[in-house]
Amino acid sequence: MRICIVGAGYVGLTTAAALADFGHEVQCVDIAESKIENLCQGKVPIYEPGLEDLIRKNLISGKLNFSSQVKESISDYPIIIIAVGTPSKEDGSSNLTFLNQVVEIIASEINDHKIIITKSTVPPGTNERIYQTLIEMGINEELFDIVSNPEFLREGTALWDIYHANKIVFGTKTVRPIKALKNLYKKGNAPYIFTNLSGAELIKYASNAFLATKISFANEIARICDAYEVDYADVANGLATDPRIGRLFLNAGLGFGGSCLPKDISSLKHSALLKNVETKLLDAVHKVNETQIELYLNKLSMVLPDLSKKQITVWGVTFKPDTDDLRSSPAIALIKQLVQKGCRVHTFDPMVELELADVTSFRDQYESIKDSDALIIATEWAQFINPNWLEVKSKMKGSIILDARNCLDVKNVRRQGLIYLGVGKR
Ligand code: UGA
Repeated sequence: MRICIVGAGYVGLTTAAALADFGHEVQCVDIAESKIENLCQGKVPIYEPGLEDLIRKNLISGKLNFSSQVKESISDYPIIIIAVGTPSKEDGSSNLTFLNQVVEIIASEINDHKIIITKSTVPPGTNERIYQTLIEMGINEELFDIVSNPEFLREGTALWDIYHANKIVFGTKTVRPIKALKNLYKKGNAPYIFTNLSGAELIKYASNAFLATKISFANEIARICDAYEVDYADVANGLATDPRIGRLFLNAGLGFGGSCLPKDISSLKHSALLKNVETKLLDAVHKVNETQIELYLNKLSMVLPDLSKKQITVWGVTFKPDTDDLRSSPAIALIKQLVQKGCRVHTFDPMVELELADVTSFRDQYESIKDSDALIIATEWAQFINPNWLEVKSKMKGSIILDARNCLDVKNVRRQGLIYLGVGKR
């Protein structure tokens, strides 16, 4: 199949590389010329394990190409996958400017039949509106099919997620494009879920809202565990054996961040409000998440009352491990609050040298803790889980370790004479 993917971000690039690897002829386009120049040379602008290798392999085989000629490519290809960003607006709704621009180009370039597939996360009703817009512009409905095909990949494991998808969702208006759609992911074994356009859009939002709910639930239970001197891990393990609950996404910690969960909850709440539907549960999920940083900082100030005069090291600045993405990172929100309180903040992250006012970033994990009063683990990168505690102890001035991701072995930490702080961890 000949496919044009519009947008060379996380979703666009991963999808482009995987579909080319499945044997399709893929052209990935973006208006950012320098990004495309780099991609043509196999240089990938984001850190995603395995992605650069897969892109290079398919560039060499000729199955994958990159271009900044958006209009020409859209005109040339019969299948268009839209994978542009839909960031949050101030009011929590999704900004659809980029998507609308692509739709306008598609409208001006339809000569032969096109299948238009939206992969960008968009509020319910958006694909229906795209359909109506094209019809109102006088485009014959025989000339196009609109498909909503949301993406469920996670940053850091994006390729694994594409090759081992647990479902492939297609929202369509008619059965006409279904045969072609089945050929798109022909190499996977994932079950297909067919629904209408808004149904597919809502499956995407409901998935992320449910994951966020699990995390806020975990964080609330961890707070209760903390109050009753119970190890939250025991409770999580107790929940895990019930197949109706499961263990995944029940890790307590600083809360959820990233470019998806926070944004999608806000957008879903906004969409519900437009139809006068109350979202008490989603509001609570949001609220628990927002107060996690305060919770951890309160823990810290209980043992370090004069925080403003202290030097604090934060390990991990990305929103989760195995990514270089800083968008809505709880670690950064925490760092900003420490700075606001007057602390001297040092940071170390395996992928990112943070550039932030009043923060000193280090290239060496152990240099970053020299003379610090406390060390906070804000992102659970593998190298933070079992570091050389002897070295940590000898370099630090103080002895407080705040485990804001519930990822450390408490006994190991205490064995070195360090003070372990966490929420719901004994
Ligand atoms: C999320 C979803 O997991 C994907 O299925 C979805 O496709 C993607 O959003 C998207 O909409 O594009 P992602 O944002 O990459 O993926 O990251 P997650 O692995 O979901 O983690 C989100 C946040 O939740 C991170 O800050 C992470 O640290 C936190 N988290 C995750 C927890 O606090 N506890 C957990 O148990 C799991």
